Amino acid sequence: MSVRNLIDLNQLSLEELDDIVDMACRISRHPSHYSSACRDKLMATLFYEPSTRTQMSFQSAMLRVGGKIIGFDNPNGTSIAKGESLKDTVTVLSGYTDILTIRHPLEGAAMAASLYSGVPVINAGDGGHLHPTQTLTDIVTLRNVVGHMDKLVIGMCGDLANGRTVHSLCRSMSRYGGNSFVFISTEKLAMPQYIKDYITEMGCEYTEVRTLEEAMPYLDVLYMTRIQRERFDSMEEYEAQKGIYVLDSKKMALGKTDLCVLHPLPRVDEIAYEVDDDPRAWYFKQTQYGMYGRMALITKMISEHGSSEPVRREGTPGFTCRNPKCITRFEPYLPHLTVDTPKGCVCGYCEHGVEAEAE
Ligand code: CP
Repeated sequence: MSVRNLIDLNQLSLEELDDIVDMACRISRHPSHYSSACRDKLMATLFYEPSTRTQMSFQSAMLRVGGKIIGFDNPNGTSIAKGESLKDTVTVLSGYTDILTIRHPLEGAAMAASLYSGVPVINAGDGGHLHPTQTLTDIVTLRNVVGHMDKLVIGMCGDLANGRTVHSLCRSMSRYGGNSFVFISTEKLAMPQYIKDYITEMGCEYTEVRTLEEAMPYLDVLYMTRIQRERFDSMEEYEAQKGIYVLDSKKMALGKTDLCVLHPLPRVDEIAYEVDDDPRAWYFKQTQYGMYGRMALITKMISEHGSSEPVRREGTPGFTCRNPKCITRFEPYLPHLTVDTPKGCVCGYCEHGVEAEAE
């Protein structure tokens, strides 16, 4: 693997990604062959935000490859509650362990953590930005269920504005030839323009519709998402959006016979329980494929990168991005970090445009 830290799945070449997916498939067939792959290695899980699947599948994955785990899932039970910075927490925990996974409510937090960690860092979800190991989960599932990654019509439904899982998945699936996307959402929760631009730049097409019914007959894959209450500024705004999209048996009847229905979970009310027994519902099996994907990823990252000095970036502290949910707003020591892209200058942490500040 060419990268030491996994912040965005697109840091990997398609060959590297396929390598990890192949390994995940081998692990799923012969898990006992990998039961000592990370013996004597220790993983820290830093979960600043609630999680069931990502946290526990990382923990299960590490234990199943022979490693051990430490970590927290409630920052209020750690010195973070006393005001300890992300930098200090990461610096200390990377001195104890061989690999870190971090979930954080702020965008760009995993990138920030990687600047101070002496061991590889995996982004387990940074606010509404990215969730690369969920996308790895989705790709391992598609490889096993659909059998190929190209020429698919992929529907995404629900909270496309705040859903880091769909942002990551769009970026990865637009790298495979001939895929097209159907975005099913309200206007308020539409896919962000920068993701749509990325899809177009990659030579893929997308359409936007307002109802599941009009999309269902055309889809090979339907990726349902929940409306993310925790990302809304007020309960009123959340209440106005919730419950609009519910996949039920009646809507499933409009879908292809080999449709593959995925969901990153947790589910709230967007998939009726009656759909769980439909053979096209793969979302529970998907969680298990995620564990195999994480077993492969951890094993590769530890064996190929291990402990090394963090790649510190030079830069003036005090940079604050325009995005109110960017980590730079809350951790003032972070160095100025911007990236020039064909679309202009973006924040090196959360990828929001920063031209106004740079001028
Ligand atoms: N899919 C996912 O990230 O689930 P959790 O929030 O439970 O980790």
